[in-house]
Amino acid sequence: MRSIKQIKNLKGQVVLLRVDFNVPLKNGKVEDNFRIIKALPTIKFLQKRGAKIILITHLGKGGDTLLPVAKALNKFIKAKFIPEVIGPSVKSAVSKMKNGEVILLQNLRNNEGEQKCDKIFATELAKLANIYINECFSVDHREDTSIVLLPKILPAYAGFQLEEEVENLSHAFKNPKHPFLFILGGAKFSTKMPLIKKYLKLADYVFIGGALADDFLKAKGYEVGESLVDNTNYGITGIIKNKKLILPEDVVVRSGGKLVNRKVDEVKKGEIILDVGIETIKKIELLIKKSKLILWNGPLGKYEDGGATGTKKILKFIANGKAESIIGGGDTVAIISAMKLENKFSFVSTGGGATLDFLANGTLPGIKVLG
Ligand code: 3PG
Repeated sequence: MRSIKQIKNLKGQVVLLRVDFNVPLKNGKVEDNFRIIKALPTIKFLQKRGAKIILITHLGKGGDTLLPVAKALNKFIKAKFIPEVIGPSVKSAVSKMKNGEVILLQNLRNNEGEQKCDKIFATELAKLANIYINECFSVDHREDTSIVLLPKILPAYAGFQLEEEVENLSHAFKNPKHPFLFILGGAKFSTKMPLIKKYLKLADYVFIGGALADDFLKAKGYEVGESLVDNTNYGITGIIKNKKLILPEDVVVRSGGKLVNRKVDEVKKGEIILDVGIETIKKIELLIKKSKLILWNGPLGKYEDGGATGTKKILKFIANGKAESIIGGGDTVAIISAMKLENKFSFVSTGGGATLDFLANGTLPGIKVLG
């Protein structure tokens, strides 16, 4: 990837900086600033060198205003919000910008061209600037106009966070340290199967938790009650006997109104698996102690429903350990932010789906075009 550090002269240059400020909102306010904070070094670098910075991002699936994001951003840097994506008011605002100034345009997905790889929309955006910078690793798995077309029109470079994501996540598949423990939770079995297969080759232990584990337990013939299962056999039978694969030995279930710890062969019809159990947590802690590299994506329980204990205990355990730790996935990172543990891991990825795709394929559409 061409790096932002390679740009010779930034003074007076207009930069379209594609960020991913697709952040969680609650009651009209930004709930978690993690992605905003991670883009700040690139923004400040450009400001110091006298560039004029146009921030572009999507939020949600389209239709939402970026006003709450603009308010959150202004707690860190001064940025004027222009509630349009393209058009005369945008052109006029850009023409008035002074060196070092920042503006934030409206939600890219409010323009229907954004998700259609639309050349006309790309050209309109490109006319605003001289340089394009990608600082949006977490959306680089999408073949959207601002991700894959803009960098073909303007000279394009990678921002600091994008470089860090690529560098750090690559530790998982380029000569990883051993023993290497991969922890995978969450749901969406179909998207995670290629990853499980790949890391059964690369890692020494692959622990499966969250709703993913329900599918494995079911395939092993255990009762999983009313727990979330995918029910599609994505090749489980081919890997279920792999010695590196580690599944929960016990789980926390909701039984009637109560939470009960049960061995996996004791779950009853009508119960719902919510979390990994006490013995399983101990077992993972032993693996963590032995490991030199830990890669984790996705919570180990239904955390929004009383199943956060396993994830929290294990996160704390890793945070206090010595192994290199790489953590990703929107839900896992939200738990880390709530626990104020962001700085306790070797690397916390800003990505959800993008992190999974990068770990599976070693690159993403938005990264390929920067080569
Ligand atoms: C994310 O939050 O994972 C990215 O911003 C991508 O969002 P999307 O899944 O709506 O494309």
